[in-house]
Amino acid sequence: MKKTAGILLLCGILLLMLSVISCGTRRGEKKLEVFSWWTAGGEAEGLEALRKIFVAQNPNVEFINATVAGGAGSNAQAVLATRMQGGSPPDTFQVHAGRELIDSWVAAGAMEPLNFLFEKNNWMSVYPQGLIDIISYKGKIYSVPVNIHRSNVLWYNKAVFKKYNLKPPETLDDFFNVADTLANNGITPLALGDNGIWAATHLFENILLGALGPEKYQGLWTGKVRWDSADVRSALSAFVRVLDYINSDHAALSWDGAAQYVIDGKCAMTIMGDWAHGFFKAKGLKPGVDYGWIPSPGTKGSFNMLSDSFGLPKNAPHRDIAIKWLTVCGSREGQDAFNPIKGSIPARTDADRSLYDKYSLSAMNDFQSDIIVPSCTHGAAASQSWVTKIHDVMSIFVAERNVDKADNEFQELATRFIKK
Ligand code: GAL
Repeated sequence: MKKTAGILLLCGILLLMLSVISCGTRRGEKKLEVFSWWTAGGEAEGLEALRKIFVAQNPNVEFINATVAGGAGSNAQAVLATRMQGGSPPDTFQVHAGRELIDSWVAAGAMEPLNFLFEKNNWMSVYPQGLIDIISYKGKIYSVPVNIHRSNVLWYNKAVFKKYNLKPPETLDDFFNVADTLANNGITPLALGDNGIWAATHLFENILLGALGPEKYQGLWTGKVRWDSADVRSALSAFVRVLDYINSDHAALSWDGAAQYVIDGKCAMTIMGDWAHGFFKAKGLKPGVDYGWIPSPGTKGSFNMLSDSFGLPKNAPHRDIAIKWLTVCGSREGQDAFNPIKGSIPARTDADRSLYDKYSLSAMNDFQSDIIVPSCTHGAAASQSWVTKIHDVMSIFVAERNVDKADNEFQELATRFIKK
């Protein structure tokens, strides 16, 4: 009897102590929840590099790495929307600079302006004005870009190209020639991993860019160029032709699965953003030795850009700590640790170029000299609602390959989403 009472008393005391400790931690809670979709090779390591810097500067903060797997935010964005609508935002989240940031979150009044941070850290002079413009709304700045990615890159397996004596294709005609040689030798020419459909839209936006050229491509997002024009129709037809050269399991594969097919020599090429460069490096490949790159067919001179940024939602549970994270994201040290691993180039213009490899240096140079156009799939050109509808049309188009139908549906979407 006595023994049981003693044990009960002890349990009671322990429970009391535990509740005191947990109340204590809740009150002085030092946590940071960073929400992103960086889980694949290269992405995860890049995020880890940023985390390390943050943790070294803030050793008493518990870092919560809240990732939702699925390239291009294909799953994360829905989870984020649910949390934001339910009033439980993370402390900070990954968001594409441009329409995705502005139309989904800023115009809805869900974000805090960050001008104070840009002023405090003198960032106005180190970020390109064009980038500041697309993260601004009514004169205020709303996120901290950590990088610039290029969407229009064709990556190829150098050993396979050498074996068949092939040159990386500069035009779509070159592409079809190269693809025929590869197919005749039993190699699937182009790897696509469009599980979640976005990688198909990604491929299409770059075929569009090649077919239309940068000015007309830009016009698609402003209403100056119609989607039911002859140019877009021919891009759609070219896309259908390209689909004849892809792996049959594409719908079950992710973007990194497709990049792995290129590493394995199962496929010879893939058209993907330069996070593929981060992926190849994370897998131990040497840029320029094991794999090569070229602007996707017909897009030389254009830089199809997107930028990952982090924002500060209103009512962030740990606002002060989130600001410290944003400070790391905007710092030269943070960007120079993150980008060489991620495959992107820094958003800041004052990077230490000695830290970057051959590919990244070429991307930096092209970003200076090329015509910059915004990526659709990655939130720069169009609102998330519009892009989601484009993906819906794309899902059916990839299956049915009906150019007339897709063409009309894309035009209907443009009419609906472009605000006059
Ligand atoms: C993009 C994002 C990149 C990369 C890619 C694949 O949308 O901007 O950082 O992570 O998705 O997940």
